[in-house]
Amino acid sequence: MKNIIELKNITVFQKRNRVFNDFSLSIKENQNTVILGPNGSGKTTLMKLLNRELYIVENEHSSINIFGKNRWNIHELRTFLGVISQHLQYNYSNDALGLYVVLSGFYASDGIWQHQKFDSVKLDRADKVMDLLGISKLKNRQYASMSTGEQRKFLLARALVHDPKVLVFDEPTSGLDLRACFQYLEIIQELMNTGKKVILVTHHIHEIPPEISRVILLKEGRVFRDGEKEEVLTNKNLSRLFDCPIRVIEENGYYQALPG
Ligand SMILES: Nc1ncnc2c1ncn2[C@@H]1O[C@H](COP(=O)(O)OP(=O)(O)O)[C@@H](O)[C@H]1O
Ligand SMILES: [Mg+2]
Repeated sequence: MKNIIELKNITVFQKRNRVFNDFSLSIKENQNTVILGPNGSGKTTLMKLLNRELYIVENEHSSINIFGKNRWNIHELRTFLGVISQHLQYNYSNDALGLYVVLSGFYASDGIWQHQKFDSVKLDRADKVMDLLGISKLKNRQYASMSTGEQRKFLLARALVHDPKVLVFDEPTSGLDLRACFQYLEIIQELMNTGKKVILVTHHIHEIPPEISRVILLKEGRVFRDGEKEEVLTNKNLSRLFDCPIRVIEENGYYQALPG
């Protein structure tokens, strides 16, 4: 079984901050995984590594492999891996229409320019993905005038135009109201049920759908626990992870955290 990502003894900086030091982790292709950790634990840094927005400090002991390769052309990578992150949401130019947000995925850019032409194959694909997510009627709306939930679906559509095998969601429901949150989680579940593999990155345990079996707890740039969900999401582990007393309850495969 291939690894989506295999990190060995890596060191990574964000500006002057060393986020990871001698850090190792691998995520297999055959399972849906959640990376759970408090603010600042390094989750987004990890996603940026996957997405080739950040690089490791090269040394003889360290390596990073994504789908078995250590070098990637960014456009080619998009067809294997779709990353849907918050910071994208805020980077969009205000006047872009929904359709163009989706089409911009073909160029892995945060916007589109006049000279970019879209053939009918790309336009058809964009339409298909918008249909799938139920957002076709918004395709001529300005992205800036959409609700946060609608915007997030457009960003997902943008990643889906490539039909990537693996989708990475960084804090997928932050800022969404309950209905939008449930709707969006349902879409993620449907994607998993139709064969996509998901890496979910979050600090909310209620976001973890039953389909996700592997839980990696990240604390201060280290793997604090890693294993099957039932074994990892315990009162003791979460209390130590977040440095406060937490009681975990489970119902129908969903988890919630309460003050301990
Ligand atoms: N652009 C940046 N410049 C400097 N330090 C950063 C930057 N982004 C993140 N960091 C630092 O890296 C660490 C990990 O951050 P991040 O990966 O965003 O955590 P998380 O996503 O788990 O909240 C934090 O200590 C944070 O302060
Ligand atoms: Mg983050």
